[in-house]
Amino acid sequence: MSTPSSAIESTLVENRVFEPSEAMRKSARISGMDAYNALCAEAESDFEGFWAKRARETLTWHKPFTKTLDSSDAPFYKWFDDGELNASYNCLDRHMGTPVENKTAIIFEADGGEITKVTYKELLAKVSQFANALKASGVKKGDRVVIYMPMTVEGVVAMQACARIGATHSVVFGGFSAKALQERIHDAKAVAVVTANYQLRGGKELPLKAIVDEGIALGGCETVKNVFVFQRTQTACNMVAGRDTFMHDAVANQSTDCPAEMVGAEHPLFVLYTSGSTGTPKGVQHSTGGYLLWANLTMQWTFDLKPDDVFWCTADIGWITGHTYVAYGPLAAGATQIVFEGVPTYPNAGRFWQMIERHKCSIFYTAPTAIRSLIKAAEADEKVHPARSDLSSLRIMGSVGEPINPEAWMWYYKHVGGERCPIVDTFWQTETGGHMITPLPGATPLVPGSCTLPLPGITTAIVDETGNDVPNGSGGILVVKKPWPSMIRTIWGDPERFKKSYFPDELKGYYLAGDGAVRSPDRGYFRITGRIDDVLNVSGHRMGTMEIESALVGKTDLVAEAAVVGRPDDTTGEAICAFVVLKRAVPHGDEAKAIAKELRDWVAKEIGPIAKPKDIRFGENLPKTRSGKIMRRLLRSIAKNEKVTQDTSTLENPAILDQLGQAY
Ligand code: PRX
Repeated sequence: MSTPSSAIESTLVENRVFEPSEAMRKSARISGMDAYNALCAEAESDFEGFWAKRARETLTWHKPFTKTLDSSDAPFYKWFDDGELNASYNCLDRHMGTPVENKTAIIFEADGGEITKVTYKELLAKVSQFANALKASGVKKGDRVVIYMPMTVEGVVAMQACARIGATHSVVFGGFSAKALQERIHDAKAVAVVTANYQLRGGKELPLKAIVDEGIALGGCETVKNVFVFQRTQTACNMVAGRDTFMHDAVANQSTDCPAEMVGAEHPLFVLYTSGSTGTPKGVQHSTGGYLLWANLTMQWTFDLKPDDVFWCTADIGWITGHTYVAYGPLAAGATQIVFEGVPTYPNAGRFWQMIERHKCSIFYTAPTAIRSLIKAAEADEKVHPARSDLSSLRIMGSVGEPINPEAWMWYYKHVGGERCPIVDTFWQTETGGHMITPLPGATPLVPGSCTLPLPGITTAIVDETGNDVPNGSGGILVVKKPWPSMIRTIWGDPERFKKSYFPDELKGYYLAGDGAVRSPDRGYFRITGRIDDVLNVSGHRMGTMEIESALVGKTDLVAEAAVVGRPDDTTGEAICAFVVLKRAVPHGDEAKAIAKELRDWVAKEIGPIAKPKDIRFGENLPKTRSGKIMRRLLRSIAKNEKVTQDTSTLENPAILDQLGQAY
């Protein structure tokens, strides 16, 4: 298997093309490229009319909107602004009295293998009860609620319950540390936290409630009046009198009826924190109407969802993929979906394949990192090879979160999809709310490693630094020229940063995605070449180099200076490499190993285990220009163990390169 950088090279010469099968094309909602082109043409000739029609067809509005797009305060665009609706109503109530009412909404498979099924009707009752419990505790429309939960039915219930009463949720991934959680609670000024006593991963019980307590104890969380605790395991946890309530106690006397609170289309459904190139994580704010429209519509378009499909998105609810394609999209579309608590390698690395067989999964959506690690496992142990499972139920497969290298794509296509199932390589971001560039299963000829073409109405383009289009074949900056309904509305509490980060003056008002891309000369297909800012993508998890650097220099007894870069990694896509100057002599051998471990553990505590640097190198200094700027491109070469070929004449201290390149 090759690294992403060589993958990029092999995509450049990629000439394998996989046309949709006749059967897939015939049965698909968007059938063939003519149908796709017709939709694109419709969006181009009547942009607002195109979106208004979809919004009316796809969602149930309590009060219809009269205006589609308001650009008067661009880039703070408003969509369907005078319309009113409720997201939870659209995911649950709307299905009552239809055949979906008694359909299974969620097939939950626990870490240990236990299976629980919940119908739409039952889910509505659960959501309503918890929504009533939230209301009884004083949470009201417009309040923020932080959700720090494992993958469980209750996690989805908590999100839907917030939406139901018009509270804005902010889900924090269960792998983030107490400090990261505290920063998010503080920034969002959350009035309540929903958590679990423990989470189960790979047979291990990991504390969540204790981390909430630790986070709140750090201070700045005085807005939190209530903590709701889902009792996931029987192990006891600390409960603070007057603040903490078990979820089962909170709902015990609550009615299963809770009328959904209607909100304006622009009402913030959620804020989700993500990493940027500078400073602290930013709270990406999403709307209700435009977001939900896209969540539902992309289920129909990208996944071509049919009533009998069993959909499985393996993402955690702590990430945007788990929001759009677990908590909202599948429910709004009335799908049966699998929610999985555990990890792909427990009890063995055949778990995904066995689960596809067990639940007759027909649409499977996962990340390239998972695929790459399962390839390795299958090659090492034939017992966990997908060939050992009956995967004939699959019809469509998806990939998300990072570039998929053609070798991994081919393996996925052949060994998981049996050369029958199209792969939708979906490019999008926390900020875009849903898919942007992706093949359509019944239309787009597939090219391994390419996310192909934008969805109808989505105006992605590749431009130079001044916002001018570059020709196909030339790389450039990925932008979106026109607004779209599910776009980020602002950065929570920081509209200036929103404008600066996403709509820089020199780009003619286009949305700056932060990725580089190139279009193929023949088909105009997009290929994402990776971030052009200081954002890393490790196992599909987004992280800012600055965040990790500031965590490292926060270890003030030890660290004087730190610089973090990414380097290609066979399994995780990118790996974190930190260059550290200590406040003591450069360590060697066992001492260096011990300090590296100490620093890794420190970063895990400051941010979370996902941010732990894979490599830590020590030096007396960092390579800097005479004006004191760290030369990151040199560090990237050293991280890759490449010979430095760049011009080092502006470097103040060239000898440092050898030192930083040395292993210990
Ligand atoms: O660099 C792109 C990469 O992931 C970034 C967005 O990360 P995040 O906001 O965490 O959302 C991930 C899930 C949507 C992008 O800027 N990325 C995402 N999908 C792809 C991708 N890179 C290449 N191909 C993709 N399909």
